[in-house]
Amino acid sequence: MKYSVLMLASAAAFGLAAQPSLAADYAKQTQELMKADFRSKGPATVEGVLQQDEAQKLCSAYPTPEKRPKKLAAKLEAEQLKLVKYPSDGQYMGRWQEGEKIAQNGRGMQSSDKAGAPNGGNCYACHQLSKAEISFGNIGPSLYQYGKLRGDSEAILKYTWAKLYNSQAFSACSNMPRFGHKGILDEQQLKDVMALLLDPASPVNKD
Ligand code: HEC
Repeated sequence: MKYSVLMLASAAAFGLAAQPSLAADYAKQTQELMKADFRSKGPATVEGVLQQDEAQKLCSAYPTPEKRPKKLAAKLEAEQLKLVKYPSDGQYMGRWQEGEKIAQNGRGMQSSDKAGAPNGGNCYACHQLSKAEISFGNIGPSLYQYGKLRGDSEAILKYTWAKLYNSQAFSACSNMPRFGHKGILDEQQLKDVMALLLDPASPVNKD
């Protein structure tokens, strides 16, 4: 079956792409378009955009959360949790001052960025964190007072690390990047962001 891009776009708008077969056609067409029109530049490569892992394939096949079979979502989360690598030295916390810089930094992985340069986490684009920073997005929940409200038990340390490392371990097809799994942030950067969330001295946990 052949569909024009416009037809597919309107099908998606009316929710038809929620049907796996149509959604699969749509994903295939998008791939063809990307292959034809997209040029690799710097860290933004055609392969990086087109190569989907199992999680991304499932999320493309079921883009509408309500239509995504619960069993498949649960399986995806369990598999993603298994992919989490915990800190090699058992230390979860770095320096919140560095974490704040990473949370503020939205650079990285774009064609205008230098390949191999460290990436930012862009956390403020989706979350409130400290009270001092009043410019933030709200796609994700507020993380203000995250550590103060949850404490720093082993369970919280492990959960928070795993969430940052692979957001889909707890929320299939999450909008939040899989920072560790995708190599966006390295181990030290993840520790610094952990400290921003959990260190009692971090501005996130101040009144
Ligand atoms: C593109 C948006 C986006 C970005 C960027 C993002 N997040 Fe998230 N985050 C979310 C969403 C959406 C949720 C909640 C739903 C979910 O888990 O998918 C979430 C959930 C979380 C949670 C779990 C909150 C809870 O109540 O348990 C933590 C912790 C978190 N994010 C930390 C971060 C940190 C730290 C960064 C930066 C390194 C970051 N996020 C970047 C979208 C984002």
